[in-house]
Amino acid sequence: MKSEEKKILVIHGPNLNLLGIREKGIYGTETFDSINDRIRQEAEKLGVQVDIFQSNHEGEIIDKIHAAMGVYGGIVINPGAYTHYSIAIRDAIKAVSIPTVEIHLSNVHAREEFRAKSVIAPVCVGQISGFGGDSYILGLNAVIMKLNAR
Ligand code: DQA
Repeated sequence: MKSEEKKILVIHGPNLNLLGIREKGIYGTETFDSINDRIRQEAEKLGVQVDIFQSNHEGEIIDKIHAAMGVYGGIVINPGAYTHYSIAIRDAIKAVSIPTVEIHLSNVHAREEFRAKSVIAPVCVGQISGFGGDSYILGLNAVIMKLNAR
């Protein structure tokens, strides 16, 4: 692994700052801060550095993905509702060629029909969906496995 590959960027998209408050029946009661603490603990266990970023703005997410070039070896992203229509975020992930894992707390395939379609997943190494806060932990492990396998 190159040194930058030991750095992983976790991106939370819109409304995920409200985890623990928002639609608890779907997204659970675990708070945003608690999920981020668990991500940091898991990264420490795995011996990688992690930075966590949240934004409710598409352009900021795109800027962050661009800035990840040469800095991060992998990205774990929960694009929130942008999953279903942001061709711009998809193009940014494709442009930077950084292995990216898409994650969702809820099982997007078991909800409204519009959530089953991800425009982001085709440019990712894979998608993890339906494990609540654990989806982030699984995503972190998945992206690291992918990097180690290269
Ligand atoms: C979500 C699923 C999306 O459909 C939704 O818009 C979200 C959260 C999830 O983590 O389950 O904001 O990405």
